[in-house]
Amino acid sequence: MPDELQPALRHDVVDKMNEAEKGEVRRNLEAWRFSQFMHGEQGALICTAKIVQTVPDIDSKFYAATQVIDEARHVEGLQPLTSTKGPARLPAQQQPGQPARRRHS
Ligand SMILES: [Fe+2]
Repeated sequence: MPDELQPALRHDVVDKMNEAEKGEVRRNLEAWRFSQFMHGEQGALICTAKIVQTVPDIDSKFYAATQVIDEARHVEGLQPLTSTKGPARLPAQQQPGQPARRRHS
């Protein structure tokens, strides 16, 4: 994505970085962006699967199942982008550079 379209890169702090540092910021931004898309697709996969469970008749289940397959393909399509193009797969809503949130048990 062009730097002009990335609000996070239009910042005084980024202006003072060298190209290697700016590259690291770009990689982290893309890792975060693709991770958030993937989490959204995972959510859609779960929701559509629940719709299959909820609808009352078999024809509705067959129809809803086609959307489950679509969402599973979307998750599969995004997984390589979150595991090879960025530094890490980030948890949902975690911003680049933020420490990981603790989960409550
Ligand atoms: Fe999707």
